[in-house]
Amino acid sequence: MVKIKVYGNQKIDGIVPISGAKNSALPLLAAAILSSNSLKLKNVPPLLDVSTMLDLLESLGATYQINQDSMYANTIELKADSIYNFTAPYEIVKKMRASILVLGPLLARFGKCKVSLPGGCAIGVRPIDLHLKGLEALGATIDLSDGYIRASAANGLKGSDFDFPTTTVTGTENVMLAATLAEGTTVLKNAALEPEIIDLANCLNKMGAKISGHGTSTIVIKGVTSLHEAEYSVMPDRIEAGTYAIAAGITRGRVDLIGGNFRKLLPSFIDKMEKAGLRFTDIENGLRVEYSGELSPISVNTEPFPGFPTDLQAQTMAMLCFVNGESNIYENIWENRFMHAAELMRMGANITVFQAHANIKGGKRLKGAPVMATDLRASISLVLAALAADGSTIIDRVYHLDRGYCCVKEKLANCGVTIDRIS
Ligand code: UD1
Repeated sequence: MVKIKVYGNQKIDGIVPISGAKNSALPLLAAAILSSNSLKLKNVPPLLDVSTMLDLLESLGATYQINQDSMYANTIELKADSIYNFTAPYEIVKKMRASILVLGPLLARFGKCKVSLPGGCAIGVRPIDLHLKGLEALGATIDLSDGYIRASAANGLKGSDFDFPTTTVTGTENVMLAATLAEGTTVLKNAALEPEIIDLANCLNKMGAKISGHGTSTIVIKGVTSLHEAEYSVMPDRIEAGTYAIAAGITRGRVDLIGGNFRKLLPSFIDKMEKAGLRFTDIENGLRVEYSGELSPISVNTEPFPGFPTDLQAQTMAMLCFVNGESNIYENIWENRFMHAAELMRMGANITVFQAHANIKGGKRLKGAPVMATDLRASISLVLAALAADGSTIIDRVYHLDRGYCCVKEKLANCGVTIDRIS
């Protein structure tokens, strides 16, 4: 199995082109199911999760063509004019929970589907009850048996009002996708505000959907009978951008993040990092992030957008291990998202975890050690910690990294940083 060897005491200094967002590309790919006409997606990141979604769409009968525009971006043209299979099998869904995003589109266009229940994962139980309740509000009949969701709507979905009791990102996406082809108007209240929701709504509108209010907590979807051909470019990955910003902080370096308005995409994160002492400067088509003197400890609460993203929590913890003083992290989204703390402690970090709270006593040097990536964001947090540690670190289970980070080795190499893949 491939592992990553990270050499310590390195400094990042250079330019990082930020790839298309994984969490936007996945729902956009699923959106292709809604139409028999082609959907051309640009700036799709070459990631394992994207390949998994393409495998799933192909197994349903969709076809696609990939054109490699650069090492960091593909254009994918999808056509779902010959869907013949309505089952998303456990073998694919267990690899990637976002597979659940085919549920809404299949149901809306074909009136039936069977999708494996995703089950829990390393960061928490991750229920999908609100996806199902939202679809039921649109008139779907849902039956759960043998580990599968069987959903049907023999006479089509009907627009309705649905108030999400908890904000959910993929839940909002799934119901929005389904409501696009429902008869009548759907009003989603307490909808998620994440930029990826806006990206999906913008793409659906380009396909002929009638969605408004995206980016606010009330999304209104006027159902249409069919969608037309469209071309759309995936938004930049704000989590990848935040990750490289932390690389500048942890290695006392500098990085130019290119390809988006990251101040708008990461408001709370940038605010917190500025409080910690990182310097952010606007540059053409991006943002410069610089270490500009000793960092200060901070307290972080993860929250839905526009709050501090849970997907940057592990990376932030890695950085705080190197910051003199006591920092605190409160994880409010996922109940089990501190698995990386134990791995950082293997490198010498002083972290105490109690339920959703982690206390970090930072400032001690960390030392390279063999560690294991437990999930996607944990894997990159270990790479970051290892870059700043003494000695070298071997990180196992790096397939997590390949699921969501495009060309890490190459992007770091462009900034003078070396990591190696070893078998
Ligand atoms: C998405 C992101 C993930 C990120 C998360 C939170 C994708 C593909 N993944 O995951 O990277 O960490 O948002 O920003 O976009 N919940 C329920 N019932 C549901 C659905 C969710 O109780 O039916 C709860 C969850 O347990 C969690 C909270 O709602 O506590 C938020 O989860 P949600 O926004 O749904 O996360 P995902 O969409 O799975």
